[in-house]
Formats: sequence, structure tokens, C-alpha cells
Amino acid sequence: MPKSASHSSSLHVAVIMDGNGRWASRQGLERSAGHAAGAEAVRRAVEAAPALGIGVLTLYAFSSDNWQRPPTEVSGLFSLFTQYLRDETTRCLSTGVRLSVIGRRDRFPLPLRAAILAAERATARGRRLELRIALDYSARDAILTAATAALAAGGRQSLTREGFARLLDARDVDLLIRTGGERRLSDFLLWECAYAELYFSEQMWPDFGPAHLAAALEDFGARERRFGRIPGAQPLPDDDAQDAAV
Ligand code: FPP
Repeated sequence: MPKSASHSSSLHVAVIMDGNGRWASRQGLERSAGHAAGAEAVRRAVEAAPALGIGVLTLYAFSSDNWQRPPTEVSGLFSLFTQYLRDETTRCLSTGVRLSVIGRRDRFPLPLRAAILAAERATARGRRLELRIALDYSARDAILTAATAALAAGGRQSLTREGFARLLDARDVDLLIRTGGERRLSDFLLWECAYAELYFSEQMWPDFGPAHLAAALEDFGARERRFGRIPGAQPLPDDDAQDAAV
């Protein structure tokens, strides 16, 4: 467990699942086969998460910039997401997983929108793991939307970090994992990752199994999270007043 984390029993782990396409092409397969194998890796990660101390798992499955991919890949991904949501709802119910989707959903085909709503409604009482799937997600857009809501609510004087985080529905990330060997954030949870520990894996996402997830958490557990303090210092009494005016 991390040396200075205050809520280490229930971690928020976020994952940028990269490398499906390269995984597929290395095996002489279509990219769609890589995405299908990626969906299997999602199932395995969700199953493994609670025992590893993960309370919230946020997975980046489709960024708002992914609309720029070829239409056949985009529609293939939407079919895969729809199928996953339909197939996994029963399993989520029996394993205490609450599934929700972050990001826009108004640009999706109707069957995907319906599958999202049905999965969210059916699993709303899950308490063992909160599984959040980021679809048509852009952190910059999410921040802009929250800022627009703050402006509409009137005045910047009452705008605090805490209040803004509520508008953003932000959950601080403890550990951000990116697979596929690249080292960038790609517009994912920019506010929420302010103090996230970063972990980059060379594994392509379809190969990233529970043992790799456990290794990432072990690495995380060895880190000292200081949140700007000096080593060993105790927090000041009013140190949790994170809502100083922005
Ligand atoms: C990035 O790898 C991956 C995606 C854009 C899609 C992520 C989708 C999945 C993991 C499939 C299933 C997800 C759910 C929630 C059921 P890439 O295709 O860009 O890989 P590359 O960089 O090797 O080309």
C-alpha cells in the first residue's frame, strides 16, 4: 500500500488502454481483432480489481479525438461497446460492480445509448467496485462544460476547488496506468490526475493481465506520495481545506 495515501484501501485507478491495433498487426490480424481481445482484457481487469484494493476503475475506451479514425473502425468499436455492456450487466450485478459511462453520449448510435442507460440502471446498487468507462471523452471538454456551468451559476467569487470538482464530477486518481509503451495523457482526466502516480507499461493492452495490474499496484505501493509536502511531514490541521478560492 502507498506510504502516505490516506484512503489506500479503496484506490482510484485509471487506465489508458493503448496498443490493441499493434497487438493485432503483430499477429497478422485486423485491428478489430485487437479491440475484441482488448474487451477480454477489460473483463479480466474488472474481475481482478476489487481484490487488489481498487474501489474505482476508470477505463479510457474512446476519446473524443477517436472520431477521426476510419468510420469502419469507429462503428466496430461502438458494436463492441454495445455488446460488452449487454453481456456484462448480469455479471456486474452478481459481482457488485456499478457500471457507469463518463463523457458525451449524445453522438452515439441509439443502441449504444440504450445499452449504456440499461447497464447503468441495472447496476446502480453495486458497491464492490465502481467501473467507469470513458466514451467520447475529452478532459478539456469536461473542464469547459464544468466552467460553463460555473459561469451560468453566477460569479467566480464562490468558485472553489471543491465546488468546481463537484461540477466536474471529479474523482481524484491515485494511479494512472498507460499500456502500449507510449507516455502521454491524451486528454484523459487532466484535473483528476493532478496528484496521480503515473505508471507506463510496455505491454499492449490485450496482453495486460491481472498479474500486470498487480505489479502496477505493487510499484504504486512503494512510492511516497507527498502532495507537495516534505518527506515525513505531518499535514497541517487545516491542510484538508482543499477548497481555497481558485
Ligand atoms: C487504443 O489502442 C484503444 C482504443 C482506442 C480502444 C479501446 C477499446 C478497447 C480496449 C476495447 C473494449 C473496451 C470496452 C470497454 C469493452 P489503439 O487501437 O490505438 O492501438 P494502437 O496504438 O496499437 O494502434
